[in-house]
Amino acid sequence: MTIDIEKARADTPGADRVLHFNNAGAALMPTPVVKAYIDHIRLESEIGGYEAQAARKPSLEGTYAALARLINGEADEIALLENATRAWDMAFYGLAATFEPGDKILTSEAEYASNALAFLQVARRSGVTIETVPSDASGKLSVEALKQMVDDRVRMIAVTHVPTNGGLVNPSAEVGAVARAAGVPFLLDACQSVGQMPIDVKAIGCDMLSATGRKYLRGPRGTGFLWVRADLAGSFEPPFLDLHAATWTARDQFDIQPSARRFETFEGNIAGRIALGVAVEYALGWGLDAAYDRIGYLADSLRNGLSAIPGVRVRDLGEERCGIVTFTAEQTAPEVIQGALGEKSIHVSVSPRAFTLFDMEKRDLASVVRASLHYYNTEDEVARFCSELKELV
Ligand SMILES: Cc1ncc(COP(=O)(O)O)c(C=O)c1O
Repeated sequence: MTIDIEKARADTPGADRVLHFNNAGAALMPTPVVKAYIDHIRLESEIGGYEAQAARKPSLEGTYAALARLINGEADEIALLENATRAWDMAFYGLAATFEPGDKILTSEAEYASNALAFLQVARRSGVTIETVPSDASGKLSVEALKQMVDDRVRMIAVTHVPTNGGLVNPSAEVGAVARAAGVPFLLDACQSVGQMPIDVKAIGCDMLSATGRKYLRGPRGTGFLWVRADLAGSFEPPFLDLHAATWTARDQFDIQPSARRFETFEGNIAGRIALGVAVEYALGWGLDAAYDRIGYLADSLRNGLSAIPGVRVRDLGEERCGIVTFTAEQTAPEVIQGALGEKSIHVSVSPRAFTLFDMEKRDLASVVRASLHYYNTEDEVARFCSELKELV
């Protein structure tokens, strides 16, 4: 199936208002998602929050089922959380609590700052060592190097699929094959890839996966999820428990939920969770293959357009490149470009060194402009973007 671009834009109230190339920040929500969110908030105001939740239980359960279908997992392997970071943290800190001094965690050069901070904190606290797997000549994680680095002290492989600062797509299934062969748990940060491209946890061979709602899934802010393979979930405890994650069975005893809901909290943004489910159904309606084809086509057109502007340099790494396009200009700082484009309602973001320090330091980059495209963007927008940029740099 191909994307019906007119329908996609008609469903997107913001599409004609702004030129939105900040989908890796937060994408424009489509109308059905906005409606689901507002309808639930209205119901809460009319009958009460708990009562509204009970009344909409099937929709809420539908979110778990939709996410499971999206990534080829099971509904009871999904936990709904408020963002990708907390989802990742629940898996990471939970599993890391079982590590001992001298144990190792292997990660990628593309790692996101919040993950790296957690590595550093755990390393400081418990004497665990963090080792970064080098990238190959193209800039993607070197699977050969990873193979060499796996030994019996490695307790986790934690890799970012698509980094925050560029079009790179790391070879997740090859990493999964190495992790499986070594029997090492594999945590995949799929924050920028879920919703953008087809994701199949079984084909990838990961054990845990975290993602957010507001980016390529086009869901509301303040939503995210964690998927943990059922037979692994029981082998470690969440770092925090509440009365939803566990049951207080006697004065000195408790039972932790068997399903992935052990990683959730009782209180949450129910409207957001329901609307996230609608966003997932909406994405599945277009098809992730069709979405990724169009995103890749638009992003490549943008890379070509940018490369033709004197002084502009595309900074994306890797062999397979996705919808995140990053660049610098010789004479104009990324922040200046972002500000000047913003005045024309053209949205990009700036990715600073501290967000992906391993990689940016290696490439001696202070910051890059990030233009992240979605399937609802158009060739005309790409052309306009390039001509406005040309005037600026
Ligand atoms: C690669 C990557 N991982 C994790 C995150 C964190 O996501 P969230 O802000 O939903 O916690 C981001 C956010 O930009 C990201 O780009």
